[in-house]
Amino acid sequence: MTVRTDDIEQAVGVLRTGGLVALPTETVYGLGADAQNPAAVARVFQAKGRPPTHPLIVHLGSVEQLADWAEDVTATARRLAEHFWPGPLTLVLRRGRRVPLEVTGGLETVALRVPDHPVARALLSAFGSGIAAPSANRFGSVSPTTADHVRAELGDAVDYVLDGGPCEVGVESTIVGVTGDTVTLLRPGGVTREDLEAVLGDPVSVPSVSPVRVPGQHPSHYAPRARVVLVEPDQVVAEAEHAQQQGHQVGVFLPPGAAASEVKAHAAIMLPGSSAAYARGLYGFLRELDQAGCDLIVASLPVEQGLGLAIANRLRRAAGPRPADQLIAPVRP
Ligand code: TXA
Ligand code: MG
Repeated sequence: MTVRTDDIEQAVGVLRTGGLVALPTETVYGLGADAQNPAAVARVFQAKGRPPTHPLIVHLGSVEQLADWAEDVTATARRLAEHFWPGPLTLVLRRGRRVPLEVTGGLETVALRVPDHPVARALLSAFGSGIAAPSANRFGSVSPTTADHVRAELGDAVDYVLDGGPCEVGVESTIVGVTGDTVTLLRPGGVTREDLEAVLGDPVSVPSVSPVRVPGQHPSHYAPRARVVLVEPDQVVAEAEHAQQQGHQVGVFLPPGAAASEVKAHAAIMLPGSSAAYARGLYGFLRELDQAGCDLIVASLPVEQGLGLAIANRLRRAAGPRPADQLIAPVRP
């Protein structure tokens, strides 16, 4: 997993010729392309199986590049960028002229962030321009937090994979829209709402219905193959055992303190006590239960504070309705 200067140079070469590079970030792995090359950007959508109207995040090497990629950057936007970059915060701002409409899915806004990972930063600095990168998974499925996840998910569709080890944060960046002084939370993530509010000195508004097209807000996003069922924390064990008796291969997310050996389920994940460790492990846990052959995952929602807000958001979406062909028979008719 050690990335050498040679690897960075090779990755830059791939980007310059319109190819796709998977890159580690502190949140999840991204599938990167030269943000100013529409043909390369089109390949990203193709590799993911993502509809071309769903916008990508442009990754930058430093906060100084902000003015090159966005227009009308307000004092509030600048304050957030200066405080949280590099880091897991994405700002949605007015699109700068150099941003192709292919990147923004036709929108007049652009999503920007400076990732906090040594390999991503080395790549961005050597490339010298923006890298458009969604999470490096197939559309709708769980984001990759290791290079092996990327290879398993995208195979030959990616030209070069930079292996920077497992991602520290484990859930995607927090996305906020900034218009004037108004900051709107579009997706909870690695920067907590509490941290944003502490820096702004004002509450962050949370729209009940997203005012823009955000594919991460589709109910069935971030979903493993197994169906996810959410129950109250004190019902997790009983629900898992009931479903297992009904003939399901049940994977269970056990709250800290519960004894895995005593649960009559196919597979169990002992959840870590801290929300940072839970976020870091979340997507790996879902993949692990898929690989163990589970067709049903029973979990409960964490308290929606701090990183718990992002974890709960991803679990709800993993449990959301899916296209009919992906549905597995429900536990109880
Ligand atoms: O942590 C992350 O954000 C990771 C790493 C690779 O940086 N990236 C990521 O990208 O999660 P993706 O494409 O899986 O999710 C990006 C989200 C989508 O929900 C997209 O709709 C939203 O950003 N987005 C992008 N441009 C937008 C815009 N102009 N307005 C509103 N939402 C936008
Ligand atoms: Mg994604």
